[in-house]
Amino acid sequence: MPVIIEPFRIKTVEPLNFTTRAERETALKTAGYNVFSLRARHVTIDLLTDSGTGAMSAAQWGAIMQGDESYAGSKSFERFDSVVRDLTGFKHIIPTHQGRAAERILFHSALQLGDVVVNNIHFDTTRANVEVEGAEARDLVIPEGRLTAFVHPFKGNMHLEALEAVLKGEEGPRVAMVMVTVTNNSGGGQPVSLENLRAVRALCDRYGKPFFLDACRFAENAWFIKQREPGHHARSPKEIAQEMFSLADGCIMSAKKDGLANIGGFLAMNDDALAQKCRNLLILTEGFPTYGGLAGYDLEAIAQGLVEVVDENYLRYRIRSIEYLAERFLSLGIPIVQPPGGHAVYIDAAALLPHIDPLQYPGIAVVNAFYLEGGIRTCEIGTVMFGLHPDGTETPAGMELVRLAIPRRLYTQSHIDYVVEIAATVKEISWALKGYRIAEAPAVLRHFTARFEPLRGRTAAAQVQ
Ligand code: F0G
Repeated sequence: MPVIIEPFRIKTVEPLNFTTRAERETALKTAGYNVFSLRARHVTIDLLTDSGTGAMSAAQWGAIMQGDESYAGSKSFERFDSVVRDLTGFKHIIPTHQGRAAERILFHSALQLGDVVVNNIHFDTTRANVEVEGAEARDLVIPEGRLTAFVHPFKGNMHLEALEAVLKGEEGPRVAMVMVTVTNNSGGGQPVSLENLRAVRALCDRYGKPFFLDACRFAENAWFIKQREPGHHARSPKEIAQEMFSLADGCIMSAKKDGLANIGGFLAMNDDALAQKCRNLLILTEGFPTYGGLAGYDLEAIAQGLVEVVDENYLRYRIRSIEYLAERFLSLGIPIVQPPGGHAVYIDAAALLPHIDPLQYPGIAVVNAFYLEGGIRTCEIGTVMFGLHPDGTETPAGMELVRLAIPRRLYTQSHIDYVVEIAATVKEISWALKGYRIAEAPAVLRHFTARFEPLRGRTAAAQVQ
């Protein structure tokens, strides 16, 4: 394969932070062994998230200088509105300060106690915003989407038979909305095919349900469709994205991902009455409908970002850079979700650390090893994130993943080679890693602020080695 180079050169630089092993040990202990509580200056390569962490382009910074800060009806809103409308085709475009604000406003306006929202897999804030309304968030991804090592081109697809069974069964009337998350972040950043989206649309029509996209990574999804789905190779990513949006009744969007911006989001839909309800709530909690909690300059950065993100050279590099890291991990024998997704490589922590019980959080053991060995911050997407239920019980999550999310346009290939070097060390010492217990945690979204304690003593499997 020809080398695919970064399709940009660097105009502004920012120094990396370096720490000693002893400094990292102290920092991690102080953070309660939860990397969310670390100071960023104690992190060398930050792969915690691809959200809001990317590098903006010269054109975005230039657009920021054009920000119109008028309270109502600004020029920046006009630009934002026209770019989002052109891309999505939706009638009502409502800016929000980030994705979860769009979630909260949509669900609070559309859901009632006892409703069900079906999704391929809800992201954590999406699930929490459904549950806080007293509704149920149900995940119906295809079974292949939960088999980490199973290769399938569209592992984010909705399980259509299961969806139809719910819609036509006795729970059918309780389903308030069908959502599809593109790409499916909690299932490994896996794409959804156009064919699957069309079929979801048809089912929603048949059973009279609204269909929303959680569109954070729509451009990465469009690139996978272009590469993998027969009949779409000659189309532009933008055309494919437009078709994806055209199949839905609305979307929620975090512009911190494929908006290539550091903050922002939006909610968009065709339903006039629902849009009115959402705007009323927006005014109460976010701001006037032409800024929605954002500065005029943020709207400019997002509008420009949405144009840049569908550029073929950008998407080719973006997806290749994730694939490169995945190939290197596989050559080290590190188990990962395959094929790699669009924004991150996900390590299968349960397969890497079979000696650690899921309720002793193997994902946290891997995350903390990456930090201690190399100052790399990653993120558990497993039992800590998803194992606690609204009734207070805890069960192992379906998968114990550790996500290495790659911020957009931020790190170079040698930074990624350093990550591979540290991963080799983590693999070497994996047999000796120990589990954790939770010392304290809040009842909702506990992964952000929980404090852990390392378990002492080796597990039986580790002693054998
Ligand atoms: N939906 C998905 C699929 C997401 O990945 C996120 C955020 C959101 C909604 C919420 O958007 O952060 O702007 O409020 N994901 C980030 C992540 C935080 O690290 O994957 P937000």
